[in-house]
Amino acid sequence: MDQHLSFLCLFLSLFLQFPFNFSWNSLTFLDLGSNLLEGSLPSSLCNLSNLEYLLLSGNSMTGPIPHCFSNISSQLKVLDLRKNGFHGKIPTNFPEGNQLRNLGLNGNKLEGPIPKSLKNCKKLEVLDIGHNQISDTFPMWLESLPELSVLILASNQLHGTIGISETKSPFLKLRIFDISYNHFTGSLPAEMIKNFQAMKRVDNNNQTQAKYMGDGSYYDDSVTLMMKGLEIEIKRVLTIFTTIDLSGNEFDGKIPNSIGDLNSLKVLNFSRNRLIGVIPSTFGDLSQLESLDLSWNQLAGKIPVELGKLNFLSALNLSENQLEGRIPTGGQFNTFQNISFIGNKGLCGFPLKDCGGFNHSNSPESWKHHHKDLLDLMSGFTWKSVLFGYCFGTILGLSIGVVMFATRKPKWFVSLVEDMCIRSKTTRRGSIRLHQFNTYRKKWKHDM
Ligand SMILES: *[C@@H]1O[C@H](CO)[C@@H](O)[C@H](O)[C@H]1NC(C)=O
Ligand SMILES: *[C@@H]1O[C@H](CO)[C@@H](O)[C@H](O)[C@H]1NC(C)=O
Ligand SMILES: *[C@@H]1O[C@H](CO)[C@@H](O)[C@H](O)[C@H]1NC(C)=O
Ligand SMILES: *[C@@H]1O[C@H](CO)[C@@H](O)[C@H](O)[C@H]1NC(C)=O
Ligand SMILES: *[C@@H]1O[C@H](CO)[C@@H](O)[C@H](O)[C@H]1NC(C)=O
Ligand SMILES: *[C@@H]1O[C@H](CO)[C@@H](O)[C@H](O)[C@H]1NC(C)=O
Ligand SMILES: *[C@@H]1O[C@H](CO)[C@@H](O)[C@H](O)[C@H]1NC(C)=O
Repeated sequence: MDQHLSFLCLFLSLFLQFPFNFSWNSLTFLDLGSNLLEGSLPSSLCNLSNLEYLLLSGNSMTGPIPHCFSNISSQLKVLDLRKNGFHGKIPTNFPEGNQLRNLGLNGNKLEGPIPKSLKNCKKLEVLDIGHNQISDTFPMWLESLPELSVLILASNQLHGTIGISETKSPFLKLRIFDISYNHFTGSLPAEMIKNFQAMKRVDNNNQTQAKYMGDGSYYDDSVTLMMKGLEIEIKRVLTIFTTIDLSGNEFDGKIPNSIGDLNSLKVLNFSRNRLIGVIPSTFGDLSQLESLDLSWNQLAGKIPVELGKLNFLSALNLSENQLEGRIPTGGQFNTFQNISFIGNKGLCGFPLKDCGGFNHSNSPESWKHHHKDLLDLMSGFTWKSVLFGYCFGTILGLSIGVVMFATRKPKWFVSLVEDMCIRSKTTRRGSIRLHQFNTYRKKWKHDM
């Protein structure tokens, strides 16, 4: 027998032979995420004509994604195949009128173009195809998808300039836009960015109206993003969270003044491009900005004093540019370390060497706000959500920081949580959840 016997097939056939009167066809929810599944996806899955959620992220599955998936997508709402080893092309024939809300293919080896038929996915909210080998130009044709809120194309082989959009309000609901680490060229897509309506809504700033993305089912839309220099998996995405990451491309030209219109933007990263000119003073209008990275460009001139108005700014990186003059003082500027400014020969003043004129009296404040803010950023970080998240998935892909879960220490806490999870497991009709099955198996054995 093939040693790469598909664990999934085995699994499914076991279930098929269950003595219960279980109608396989009525299955709507299948969660086998974070296990050790290997092998390829059987195309028999496509016969599950009522399947709405297929969650297989965090396994070691390989092979192509069967093309019949686009056929069942008339019912399918969430297809989460992130963090596996799938290769080949993304299925191409998404039919009209389909229900697909979240297509998560991040972290595989998929190649080829982005299928044009995604245009038919009028309900698509999350398209996450980052960290693959997809080769194409920028999919401007996605601009008309009315619900698209999260577009992650990071770390692929995308190239070319980002053209002019054809609609008046491109990407009407886009709030998370990550195209970092590709080969995009030309000037920054100023026209398009300027019209991102969802990043300009003042009511976005009303914390009391904050909600989580998703449809209220057990599935939470989760994404992995770089923020404040850390890679963070946000297990539940707040609808007020907004970010633009264009870092690691070959954009040149100036930063447009119009960027200041995005007054609910929280994270902006233009690092590692070839931007020239000055930092626009309109950055001072980004009143919600918490993280700004313009490092590794060729920006010149002075740092606009308007940046001092940004009360929430807790991560700033202007290093490796050609900035000059005195670093502004006051506001958050008192909290940044020299690492935020190094590699700019002409800069002086706190926290770098003094300017040689009069000395100013600003003393550094502590750094502790940095890390508190980071937690605030991670949508609704409370112990309740840690518990919830640990039960229903890996809440924290935090590559640093809260390593408690990774190290499974303290043990008492981990086992307490797992106990609670097992007890509180609920199943609804037509749904199977064996998320992190291995954890339970291990535990059960231990108890025996
Ligand atoms: C899917 O169902 C059809 C009939 O409903 C059957 O002929 C076919 O063999 C099934 N495919 C798989 C792969 O099980
Ligand atoms: C998928 O749809 C195409 C065209 O709509 C059809 O030709 C094909 O037989 C379908 N495949 C399955 C497995 O249903
Ligand atoms: C925020 O939303 C709440 C609830 O909708 C409302 O009562 C409050 O007035 C809003 N605050 C602001 C500043 O808009
Ligand atoms: C900005 O992007 C670069 C490259 O992707 C990354 O190394 C850096 O950490 C990011 N900056 C912040 C503040 O997250
Ligand atoms: C800024 O970028 C430099 C060089 O990439 C890096 O060493 C530093 O850690 C970054 N600082 C911050 C605050 O992200
Ligand atoms: C930055 O500051 C640290 C102390 O906070 C100091 O050790 C280091 O030499 C400084 N680096 C530069 C380039 O000024
Ligand atoms: C600035 O302060 C440093 C010590 O903090 C001192 O050595 C230097 O002479 C001062 N420069 C001027 C111009 O007062």
